Amino acid sequence: MSTIYIHWPYCLSKCYYCDFNSVVCKSSINYLEYYKLYKNVLNKLREQFYYNDTITSIYFGGGTPSLADNIFIDNVLNYIYKTFKVSNDIEITIEANPKTIDKYKASQFKSSGVNRTSIGVQSIIDEDLKILGRIHSAYDAIKCVYEISDVFDNVSIDVIYNRPGQKLENWANELNRILQLPIQHISMYELIIEKNTYIKYLIDQGFVDAPSNNSRFIEQTIKIAKSNDFEMYEISNYVKNGTQLYSKHNLSYWNYDRYYGIGPGAHSRLSIGNNLYAIEQICDITKWLAWANSPEFELNNSDNIIELLTQDDIYKEQLIMGLRTKFGVNINNLNKDMINKYKLFDKIEVLKENSYVLDNSSSVVLSYNGMLKLNMIVEYLTKN
Ligand SMILES: C[S@@+](CC[C@H](N)C(=O)[O-])C[C@H]1O[C@@H](n2cnc3c(N)ncnc32)[C@H](O)[C@@H]1O
Ligand code: SF4
Repeated sequence: MSTIYIHWPYCLSKCYYCDFNSVVCKSSINYLEYYKLYKNVLNKLREQFYYNDTITSIYFGGGTPSLADNIFIDNVLNYIYKTFKVSNDIEITIEANPKTIDKYKASQFKSSGVNRTSIGVQSIIDEDLKILGRIHSAYDAIKCVYEISDVFDNVSIDVIYNRPGQKLENWANELNRILQLPIQHISMYELIIEKNTYIKYLIDQGFVDAPSNNSRFIEQTIKIAKSNDFEMYEISNYVKNGTQLYSKHNLSYWNYDRYYGIGPGAHSRLSIGNNLYAIEQICDITKWLAWANSPEFELNNSDNIIELLTQDDIYKEQLIMGLRTKFGVNINNLNKDMINKYKLFDKIEVLKENSYVLDNSSSVVLSYNGMLKLNMIVEYLTKN
């Protein structure tokens, strides 16, 4: 099974912390033209890599795909249904910024087949939303979640914690309130200060505080989620108990399934026979549009990065992705030579002595303590 990711690169405004491949769109968009270009690229990937695998998830991410007219979403989905084998219980997600979606637009997306929305709430404190450079207020975000939850039964939100100046006890209070919203899933990310972002400049100039390096933020987050009936199933992702509404799309990444990525800067992991390729499409939006529009366009363009992955690369990526989840990494899916080369079983014994790994013969699964030391453990397991 495989998944499809569609990258919509436009936003209403650029948030201060964000280094995603997204820009503010200044001109009007011809959505049918854009559809044609996305279709061209999807077709190109399909011609070279499709082997009749079933598509289990389609994800419109960005940027802000909820800004796009439904005619684009509808056409893309119809085309995928027409040309790929699609699973009956496919998950189709659209990411939304609270300022770009209302009940009417959500219903349009739903009528085209979308069955899950992921809303960028980030915080429900107005001053913090300003520090993050968000264009919506706390009221807008909360109203949006209520409205969208009337349309979709599967609503996820994104929040960011360990924000400049944020105190642990304030986060605890805020999170307790956030988890009362009508949602089935929540992604909670610690703020990362990326190079070349406006927030980095504000911090460097002393205009706002740097985030603290208090590791208790993550512990507190897990604890409060649990007490509000949300289960952590991945280091940043939580599902409401009893719903089973894990993100199928993200699970497929963590399981190391194949995926088709379409759009500027989109990544794919696709195979031909036993060869697995990592593909990154042209990041520059103007160049990507010109490439996808040229009559004799080929994947092998010097601005696309196409890399044949080695067994070492694959082994490392499988551990990096799989150890993030409560399901862990299935040992049967790992290459035997790599297991020997990196002395996996010896290392698991050492980790067990420190109670970082749970006792499980078929998979490597990190314990709660192990999750808190995720980066260190991944480095240990993937070093020769
Ligand atoms: C594509 S955006 C989600 C949809 C929409 N563009 C929005 O922001 O409302 C993806 C998510 O990544 C998270 N994110 C982006 N940059 C981040 C950073 N530097 N640190 C932590 N989280 C970040 C935010 O929570 C954001 O909602
Ligand atoms: S966080 Fe979302 S809305 Fe903000 S700039 Fe990034 S992609 Fe756009």
